[in-house]
Amino acid sequence: MTELSGRETVCEIFANLFGVAPPIVVRAPGRVNLIGEHTDYNEGFVLPMAIDRATWIALRRRDDDTVRLHSLEQKEATEFSLTNLEKGPVSWSEYPKGVAWALCEEGYEISGWEGVSTCEVPMGAGLSSSASFELAVARAFVEVGAFAWDPKKMARLCQKAENEWVGVNCGIMDQMISAIGVEDHAVLIDCRDLSTEAVPLPAGAAVMVMDTGTRRGLVNSAYNERRRECEKAAQFFGVKALRDVSRDDLAAKGAGLDEVTRHRARHVVTENDRTQRAAAAMKAGQAELLGELFDQSHESMRDDFEISSAPLDAMVRLARESAGCLGARLTGGGFAGCALALVQDEAASSFIDEVSRRYAEATGLTPQLYLCRASNGAECLS
Ligand code: GLA
Repeated sequence: MTELSGRETVCEIFANLFGVAPPIVVRAPGRVNLIGEHTDYNEGFVLPMAIDRATWIALRRRDDDTVRLHSLEQKEATEFSLTNLEKGPVSWSEYPKGVAWALCEEGYEISGWEGVSTCEVPMGAGLSSSASFELAVARAFVEVGAFAWDPKKMARLCQKAENEWVGVNCGIMDQMISAIGVEDHAVLIDCRDLSTEAVPLPAGAAVMVMDTGTRRGLVNSAYNERRRECEKAAQFFGVKALRDVSRDDLAAKGAGLDEVTRHRARHVVTENDRTQRAAAAMKAGQAELLGELFDQSHESMRDDFEISSAPLDAMVRLARESAGCLGARLTGGGFAGCALALVQDEAASSFIDEVSRRYAEATGLTPQLYLCRASNGAECLS
């Protein structure tokens, strides 16, 4: 028997629960960031792509102000009223509530709905399952409401939900790419003005996601510490954000900073530069240069920003030792989760076998490697 896709699954369960086919089906993808790590909250550049794994929701409008959602992963339903939104203890249901709250705060008149959701994005792996859930919920509210889908605005509101309702101080990258992803392309995002440019993936090369099988504990504390260090560095340079510091400024004045803060700043300044060069390399079809920039980015995150881990370093090293690898780096917030590699198409399947085997031998952990295709951002498919 072949496995059902996310879409088929939510449609089937919806039909079982409600006795009719769902009138509305929405999806919003997870993401993998090709390069540009910890640059978004420094108002810099990121280069993520939306992946072919998404949160799916099959739903129908209700005539009252109640939202009722069955989550297949959580094996439970949540129900809340839109006229009386109250924060509850930390749980998955705070995400849809938070999105509803952010939409109301913005003055949208939203209505109730009921449905079924499933998330194909592995949780806690650094592939933005939360952003994909938030954007799918936002898309659902738009489909049952009387307002238009404005992807950038929805990304901002979902980020607000995550920051202010769920309490995670993330930047804008994950929500933006889940909202505006473009099939077969990565998207260069300027996180200061949210302008975007879709850049094609290099011909002959594939993006391999490599899950180390490790998950982060204390997510917030280390992330917030990095944010504070970056703010301190920006203050020292007398600028609004590290985006405004050049390599030359760093060379001229960086010595006045303490060592840790100087290293953090060096990562952000050089990463912004690498990210723009990576987008240019993609446009010029220079897969090898792109791979080199991935390698440099990993070194910078390991040594200057200090967000790698032994399993991530092992995965990146083994990937680079495997035939057909053009470059590799950890991806996402860091500390655990996924790395990615740029791999020549024809080497992909031997790469998966070899790196999986050697990683398991070296670490005793069970990895998961898979090729990712770039997909569109949040959409309604019915
Ligand atoms: C997490 C955050 C993003 C971004 C990355 C690091 O994924 O949610 O906003 O800061 O870390 O690049």
